[in-house]
Amino acid sequence: MKVVFFVWVLLLTMMATQGHAALKTLGKGDRLTFDPSGFPAQFRPNWEIMKVKCIKCHTMERTVVSITTGVAPISGQPFDRSATRAYGVKMMRKPDSNMNKQEVKACVDLMNWMLTEASK
Ligand code: HEC
Repeated sequence: MKVVFFVWVLLLTMMATQGHAALKTLGKGDRLTFDPSGFPAQFRPNWEIMKVKCIKCHTMERTVVSITTGVAPISGQPFDRSATRAYGVKMMRKPDSNMNKQEVKACVDLMNWMLTEASK
């Protein structure tokens, strides 16, 4: 009986944690963006940069899709921790990106944290 109870508790815990993906999003389509309410305080300044710099040429939808699905939507390439930096630099090098290295690094650090959260 004890074992049955234990398995039951384990199942309930698993169900309870599953519905709570740590990375939340807001809106749909072109308005799809990250919900920064769950971001740790240390990443707030990063988000202030990212939410301005990374919507200059396209909406945040592209980045949300990349991080939540693990696949970059245009190229179909994997979007994982080893890809964030490369994409950040690629974006910075585009004409009129209006980003410097520090700003790209801030976005990359935040995206890496988000990738970990999205996989929870
Ligand atoms: C100067 C314009 C510009 C800025 C600024 C910009 N992007 Fe992009 N982004 C593009 C273009 C153009 C594409 C189309 C595909 C490509 O060239 O990779 C793109 C594509 C993407 C993709 C999809 C790539 C793929 O292979 O599917 C992601 C993810 C992305 N951008 C994220 C970001 C992030 C994060 C930032 C901020 C650090 C950012 N972008 C800032 C122009 C920009």
